[in-house]
Amino acid sequence: MTTPLRIGLAGLGTVGAGVAKILANQADVIGKRAGRAVVVTAVCARSKTKDRGVDLSAFEWFDDPVALATSDAIDVFVELVGGSEGPANDAVTAALKAGKHVVTANKALVALHGARLAPLAEHAQVALNYEAAVAGGIPVIKAIREGLAGNEISRVSGILNGTCNYILTEMEATGRAFDDVLADAQKLGYAEADPSFDVGGIDAAHKLAILASLAFGVTLDFDALYVEGIERISAADIEFAKEFGYKIRLLGIAARHGDRIEQRVHPVLVPVSSPLAAVTSVVNAVAIEGSAVGTVVLEGPGAGEGPTASAVVGDIIDIARGLVVAPFGIPTKDLQPSVTIPICERVGSYYLRINATDRAGSMAEITKALAEASVSIERIIQSSEPVDAGRLPVVIITHDTQEDAIENALKLLNEHDDVLDQPMLIRVERD
Ligand code: HSE
Repeated sequence: MTTPLRIGLAGLGTVGAGVAKILANQADVIGKRAGRAVVVTAVCARSKTKDRGVDLSAFEWFDDPVALATSDAIDVFVELVGGSEGPANDAVTAALKAGKHVVTANKALVALHGARLAPLAEHAQVALNYEAAVAGGIPVIKAIREGLAGNEISRVSGILNGTCNYILTEMEATGRAFDDVLADAQKLGYAEADPSFDVGGIDAAHKLAILASLAFGVTLDFDALYVEGIERISAADIEFAKEFGYKIRLLGIAARHGDRIEQRVHPVLVPVSSPLAAVTSVVNAVAIEGSAVGTVVLEGPGAGEGPTASAVVGDIIDIARGLVVAPFGIPTKDLQPSVTIPICERVGSYYLRINATDRAGSMAEITKALAEASVSIERIIQSSEPVDAGRLPVVIITHDTQEDAIENALKLLNEHDDVLDQPMLIRVERD
């Protein structure tokens, strides 16, 4: 008889409890699909007494994740502790060195330490699976690593953070304030322990760095990414974008251009008619462009207990079936160095909101500064509604231009007395 696959579960928060529930409730069908039983044998969490809505009494309890990771009682270490450093990092490293398979939902850990962890997994011939780390319930890692393995991938892009999409689309639909909507996302279990990772774009950047490595066969280089969050997006920007025919989304874009890679995360104006504009709430969407397949778009819930736990359990079942592949699709020694294109080389259109003095001639001064920087205006509106006394927003969509020209324009605008605050700049993506 085939022996059961024994799971050690570290971290019993929203996702950990969700994994324990699926493994208990779906035990029969999982056993049939995997060809063997999959059983939790041991767990580790901070509180032993907290009610998690799942019976943990039969499992051996560990206080130390490293002790669980290396225990003889488990075959697979499931890391749901979170954080790129400290216990999660120590325990995953120890598990791989001890020859245990690892499943993790920890995008910060994979993005920052994946290049060191993958060779440990390859050396021990065990799995390091991280489907839940990117786009929640969407099986995008499997899609790229397995289903699309016959393609040369030229671009991966999309909405990679459920919390930001929830905030932007709730603000858009209801006019509610940023902080108020963020508090909802936290209550619903979408946000990171430190929500500044979500709204600052860092969480999406962790995910994009992982996707870029996998898609282009390059070494992970998180620090090379350009990252900007949604903290400065106001209700006014959402309204002005609407007047111009756009919606605002936080996008991650990774594309190969010859030997170099474009990797950037920032808010974007997308046309109201674009498929991304229709992606609302906590939903994520990822578009992958492959040489043979064309464009594949995957859409689904990007955060929360059920979707994330679903991805973790899928990874566990792969291990139970005996499927072990190199963590980044090809052996680490064959990954190419990653050379990232600086953001100043981006060419495209830009949205600018400039709060200007309410006086005759201030608009002329703004357009003069843009002309001096060789930035051409496609559309311009001046709101008759002051932000507050004496401050009028002038809002511009530019023609396509290179980003360093926009940077020059911002420098000139900032030197100007009629420009009252740091102008708001959002990139426009029309494709
Ligand atoms: N905080 C993340 C998000 C969770 O909102 O997308 C899923 O990775």
